[in-house]
Parts: sequence; structure tokens; C-alpha cells
Amino acid sequence: MIYLDYNATTPILPEVVDAMVPFLREHFGNPSSAHALGRVARDAMERARGQVAALLRCDPDEVVFTSGGTESNNLAIRGVTEALPDRRQVVTSVMEHPAVVAPCSWLERHGWRVTRAGVDEDGRVRAQSVASSIGPDTALVTIMHSNNETGVLQPIAEIAAAARAAGAIVHTDAAQSVGKIPVHVRELGIHLLSLVGHKLYAPKGVGALYVRRGTPLLPFALGGGHERGLRPGTENVASIVGLGVACERARLDLDVESERVRGLRDLLWERLKGQIPGLAMNGHRVERLPNTLSVRFPDVSGIALLAATPSLAASTGSACHGGEAPQVIVAMGVPPRDALGTVRLTLGRGSTEEQVRRAAEVLSEAWRAVSRGRPMPDGVGGLEAGEPL
Ligand SMILES: Cc1ncc(COP(=O)(O)O)c(C=O)c1O
Repeated sequence: MIYLDYNATTPILPEVVDAMVPFLREHFGNPSSAHALGRVARDAMERARGQVAALLRCDPDEVVFTSGGTESNNLAIRGVTEALPDRRQVVTSVMEHPAVVAPCSWLERHGWRVTRAGVDEDGRVRAQSVASSIGPDTALVTIMHSNNETGVLQPIAEIAAAARAAGAIVHTDAAQSVGKIPVHVRELGIHLLSLVGHKLYAPKGVGALYVRRGTPLLPFALGGGHERGLRPGTENVASIVGLGVACERARLDLDVESERVRGLRDLLWERLKGQIPGLAMNGHRVERLPNTLSVRFPDVSGIALLAATPSLAASTGSACHGGEAPQVIVAMGVPPRDALGTVRLTLGRGSTEEQVRRAAEVLSEAWRAVSRGRPMPDGVGGLEAGEPL
């Protein structure tokens, strides 16, 4: 199996597992306990907080541990809007993850005005158009740092400057960026940032929200005073320890690893392009994550193509359920029928040149068979020519 789905999730690094195991076995204390076992857990959690903060270049007390991206986004969006009830508008974009879309829709149902900025043909929101939507009534601007489908990077620093000028709070969902490229919160000028453990070689079910000191924010889950009163509940110590180690590893070799992966990603594109006439790339060619290649195969659906390549783990895009065209690609002006040919190929630490060459061969072979309606050599049926996508 060639794994090309690192934007969906990553394996856990062995050193992350090693760091976690003692906290699943002997160091089982509750970090809120005053005794020695509690202290061991608490100290480990605080070390992890420092490791996350070092990656983001913020202070440790600005890091709130959560159960992952969905919770971080909900805490940011619901927490700010509850803290600023005198303002009634949220500005977001049309390409957000459901973990931002859903809380924004919830706010809309509860009387908030939600403005959704469109994207251009490169998959970028235009900072100027976001800025023109922000006014004295804007409580929050929430726009993702990079898109999970296309990898396209968004002009967050420019957007943040416009939002701050209007006194609005700025959140960015950086689930896909943190660990892949440098993400430094002070340079971005934002107030809140979501990051996700399982996208950066830590376990699933753990993440963090960066909360700039002084940001108006209320907890949406109610309970004890954990995490500075923002996220009640006994902390997931082992996973938090794992998140810390994963962040440290990312900080130490981010530059080298991102360049290595970028080279492999570009090789994959060259190999595919050389064999598939009419293959198109989705999104901005430069302003995108180094590991992400979103392509449109002509005359086939991405679903049929991936069904014909069982030795490959890749994605047609999380928005592409039930045969519908991926919305993010359609929002870029791609006709829905063409957008259906989209396949997202995402690389990571385990990717090798040999895998990339093999993946390009397998995909090209499958594309030829599926687009001509021929049966695949391994017995997996191709589509009939002319079959609706
Ligand atoms: C951009 C983005 N935001 C949020 C999430 C949700 O993260 P989690 O699975 O930790 O809830 C994901 C994960 O797919 C994502 O890609």
C-alpha cells in the first residue's frame, strides 16, 4: 500500500509513541492532584505546552490543549462570539472545513450575520475582499491558514491586519499547516489558531488552540477550571505528551523535511503530467503546502480512478461525498463535471521516491483503463466509456 493521504491523517512517530507509553502505564496521575503522581503528569503537560509554544513562537500560557481541530475551532468561534455579544457579524470563507462551517451556521441560526468570502481561480481568498466585509460590527474573522483539499495558503497576515484595524478578533484554522511549514503566530498577527495532533504525527483526539493573551474568549463546555478555565475536563496527558514531542520534532527538521517532500511532490506531478494529457492542477502553483498535490484527471471520476487503484491510499477530497463535485474546487470556477476528476495526493515523512514513481505508474495505468472503459489488468473493472461521472 502506498500511502498518499497525509492530509487525512499521519502515522504516529515512533519517538512520540515512546514518549507517551510511560504516561499510559506508570505515570497515571491526574495533573490536578497535589501529590507526587499528579506532579509528574502536570510537569509533563507543561513541558509539552512549551514544545507546542516553541513551534508556534508564542508563550506557553497561550496554549490551550483540546481534543483536536474540531474542538479548537468550536472553542474559538463560539467562545469569541459569546464573549463579544454586542457585535453581530462573523466573516469566514466558502472553503472552510466543516468544523468551521458548522459553528458559523449555528451562529447564523442564532441571529448572527455570517459573511463568506469567495475564492479566486487559484483557490485563494482575496485579502481586499475580506477586508471590505469587515466593519465595526465584526466580532470574529475566521479563515483557514491552508486549505485541506488544495493545500493553497491564504493571506492570513493581510487579513489579520485589516481585522485588527476594525477591532475584530482573528482566528485561523491551521490544522493542515502546522508541522508542514513554519507558522508563527506573532508574525501572522492573529489572536487564535487551531492545530491538530493527528496531522503532524501525534495521536488522534488531541490538539491545541493558541489564545493570544487578552483575547476575549469564553468556554463553550462548562465544568472545572482546567486549561485556564477555557477547556474543562481532566487532560489527556499521554496524548498531550505525544503532541509536544511531535511539535518538537517538526520544529527541529521542518525546513529539511518540507523541502524533501516538496521535491517528491513535484516529481509526482511531472511523472503524471508526462503520461496523462489534459491533467490539470487545482490551486495556486506556488502558494500551497509543500506536500499537497490536487489534480484533475480528464474524463474519469476521482472515485472510479481510486477504486481502480487499490494499492494506493489517496482521497477524492473530503467534500466529495455521494458523487458530488468537491465544493472547494467548484468554488474556484472549475465546472462540476471536471471537478469530479479531482484526486488529492498528499505526501509525508514516509514518502519515498520509489513510492512516487510507482504511484505515478499505477495512476496513469488506471487512468488509461478507466477512461477507455477497459477492464483493469488486476481484474478491477473500469468504467464503461461514456458512463456518467
Ligand atoms: C482544515 C481542518 N480543520 C479541522 C480538522 C478537524 O480536526 P479533527 O479531526 O482533529 O477534529 C481537519 C481534519 O480533517 C482539517 O483538515
